[in-house]
Amino acid sequence: MEQTEVMKPETLDDLIKILHNIFASDSINVEEVQNIMESYESKPEDWKQYAIFDKYRYTRNLVDEGNGKFNLIILCWGEGHGSSIHDHTNSHCFMKMLQGQLKETLFDWPEGKSQGDMVQKSQRILQENKVAYINDSIGLHRVENGSHTEGAISLHLYSPPFQFCQTFDQRTGHRNTVKMTFWSKFGERTPIETTVSQENN
Ligand code: SIN
Repeated sequence: MEQTEVMKPETLDDLIKILHNIFASDSINVEEVQNIMESYESKPEDWKQYAIFDKYRYTRNLVDEGNGKFNLIILCWGEGHGSSIHDHTNSHCFMKMLQGQLKETLFDWPEGKSQGDMVQKSQRILQENKVAYINDSIGLHRVENGSHTEGAISLHLYSPPFQFCQTFDQRTGHRNTVKMTFWSKFGERTPIETTVSQENN
């Protein structure tokens, strides 16, 4: 396998530049992206302008559009906030912890006509600076901030970018297609009327 030069990003801007270079190529090495994202040591001064919380649900804040190859998004999880169980629309999903901890629960895809509880495969706690990876062949996941006293902030890279995903009811396996929306873009709050979202129902 081709060995790429290892560069350590000192800032979030450095990381974004390196990601642009990596994703300029059509073939992506998941381990390389994971390693680069992990080697960036999170510093709040790099990303605090994008970390906009909401009292009621987790927020999705667009940081960079990756020349059309990826979306880089900061997710802000208030105390007890969580996502629904969802897929990733055939995209890669890299998720780096910038602050705090999140719980990730993996599920199998529901069987064709199954009506019962979805099968939980595993669960783990994601620690600060660590990077998790998932795609649809690995399964589905739910992400939660289990803390009742601390918020959590994560950096997600989706490639290719996607606007819709499927969410799943844990008790029945029934699915819904939902539109993913942004709470802010490039540090600016998105106008209220376009932020109605169902992704964390
Ligand atoms: C995730 O995919 O890990 C978080 C959900 C989201 O992007 O809204």
